[in-house]
Amino acid sequence: MGSPHTTATPSLNDAENHKRAAAQAAAALVADGARVGLGTGSTVAHLLPALAARKLRLRCVATSPATERAAREVGLVVEELDELGQLDIAIDGADQIDPNGWLVKGGGGAHTREKIVAAAATRFVVIASAEKVVPALRAPVPLEILRFGALATLASLDGAVLREAPPSPDGNLIADYLGPVEEPRRLAERLSATPGVVDHGLFAPEMVSDILIAGPGGVEHRVLDRPGRSG
Ligand code: 5RP
Repeated sequence: MGSPHTTATPSLNDAENHKRAAAQAAAALVADGARVGLGTGSTVAHLLPALAARKLRLRCVATSPATERAAREVGLVVEELDELGQLDIAIDGADQIDPNGWLVKGGGGAHTREKIVAAAATRFVVIASAEKVVPALRAPVPLEILRFGALATLASLDGAVLREAPPSPDGNLIADYLGPVEEPRRLAERLSATPGVVDHGLFAPEMVSDILIAGPGGVEHRVLDRPGRSG
């Protein structure tokens, strides 16, 4: 049996330090005057003070009430997406990142807003600690579903269950799809086409500009070929 000191599982402190390192690297990518989309989650929680510390003139959009509160607490200016329109950059965490740049998001139940904000941004930067990198995506895939007919929606997706979690920022239910995920594009199409599903947590590589992964060896910066990306 191996010694407990030789385990490859990162400690909580390591994981937090890695999240902070990825977040700080992303903050360094933001230009003065930028319109910035702010994701949701514990990695983004490290981004907010790192952005505020740069003392730039930024106009931000938050993907959840929790991010909005935390951003305002550190002095960031938060506005509505429809006031800003196009964003220069959006920065967000992920639950899983596969070798092709597919993401699973929505651990915090905010993936619908996160997808809208990512799609509105010229550059979408994903920040994560190294344990989020997976050889292939797997369940669960978060779903935001309408309350109306929720059981019928779940029944049409074999193996989807309601999550015991607060509603989404827009008052919808959060569920998890637990079936096979081997073909993420096909699954994304199927979930998008399912009546009652507001949106799912699969993010296609075309949405992603950059991935910053922090681990024991430092921060790895992957740049993806996103059509239309500038900067
Ligand atoms: C929230 C998300 C988060 O980005 C994702 O769950 C990662 O969270 P964390 O940074 O806490 O690991 O998609 O809906």
